[in-house]
Amino acid sequence: MLSWDDEVAPAVAPAAKPAFDAIAPAAPAASVTALHPVAADVAPDPALVAQPAPQVDKARRMNAADKRIINGNTDVNQLVPFKYKWAWDKYLAGCANHWMPQEINMQRDIELWKSPNGLTDDERRLVKRNLGFFVTADSLAANNIVLGTYRHITAPECRQYLLRQAFEEAIHTHAYQYITESLGLDEAEIFNAYHEVKSIRDKDEFLIPFIDALTDPLFTTGTTINDQKLLKSLIVFSCLMEGLFFYVGFAQILALGRQNKMVGAAEQYQYILRDESMHCNFGIDLVNTIKMENPHLWTPEFRDEIKALFFTAVELEYRYAEDTMPRGVLGLNAPMFKGYLRFIANRRAQQIGLEALFDNEENPFPWMSEMIDLKKERNFFETRVIEYQTGGALNWE
Ligand SMILES: [Fe+2]
Ligand SMILES: [Fe+2]
Repeated sequence: MLSWDDEVAPAVAPAAKPAFDAIAPAAPAASVTALHPVAADVAPDPALVAQPAPQVDKARRMNAADKRIINGNTDVNQLVPFKYKWAWDKYLAGCANHWMPQEINMQRDIELWKSPNGLTDDERRLVKRNLGFFVTADSLAANNIVLGTYRHITAPECRQYLLRQAFEEAIHTHAYQYITESLGLDEAEIFNAYHEVKSIRDKDEFLIPFIDALTDPLFTTGTTINDQKLLKSLIVFSCLMEGLFFYVGFAQILALGRQNKMVGAAEQYQYILRDESMHCNFGIDLVNTIKMENPHLWTPEFRDEIKALFFTAVELEYRYAEDTMPRGVLGLNAPMFKGYLRFIANRRAQQIGLEALFDNEENPFPWMSEMIDLKKERNFFETRVIEYQTGGALNWE
């Protein structure tokens, strides 16, 4: 096998050295006067004559009012002046919520998982199927942002948030990997679940066309049809992926935690839920601002298409609930989730300006809402102080 030196040194060094030697002796022969002859009867080269200091062209300054979320013509490198302050505020809030998976003690989970009677078979199936979805879901989300969404968004405040969000997705993938490794689960089984378990694969196959639409190198915005494609992908990701497909899984692990089981995993999920709730809200703000700036995209046909996607997503998530809880576990069962998913779908639909899709659905898990709002409180599981402020958010006095 070739070493680094074998592979690289002969290819680069010998070629570079003669090239340098060939140039070096030639240098003294060339002179400034040969290149720029100066004679009494020759006028000075205008390029060498001192020019007046360049003026600052303030007319070229960016006007915040000209910024647009999509198809904007302003400089994407220039964050300020702000126009979309809500995006910047969410970026700051995301940074103030920073956390890392290794900070959470997994010892009690490891003991419980290894104890033969620690968990029932149904609870173990639930944990494995749950991780089977999440270990790849956040990589899909990250790739969708980095390779798709980011380049089509022309507001730098929103790009700044997307950069933070992409890192948070990496932290979430890390958290799921960390739980899988801590419990000593079969990594091949967990990480291949999205190929091998139908209820998981169906959710991912529903999402992938919407990722592919944005990551296609030939895809650009600027026409009604393509702007609608982008808007549809943003709705699918914020309202249906982060806003719906995550919620059976979150409720399951948090329900375990409420029964004092898998408390380390539950704490990780609690932080992830807080992050995802903000991703979802950012996505909804993004969608609503694009709608406001481009009202022609929000046609009755487009709205019908979106509603149909909501119904499909609720059905797919319900099938995932049935597959992960075939018999009912932890006082939860799949039919309870039917109501929960309809409640969430109604809420997401209304958040983007659609009417409710299902009649009179109420939240059967009100404790899930409490889980999202964690500010300045002790962790639900009493293992660490929840509020996590780093760097610039700390007071150094
Ligand atoms: Fe995530
Ligand atoms: Fe997310």
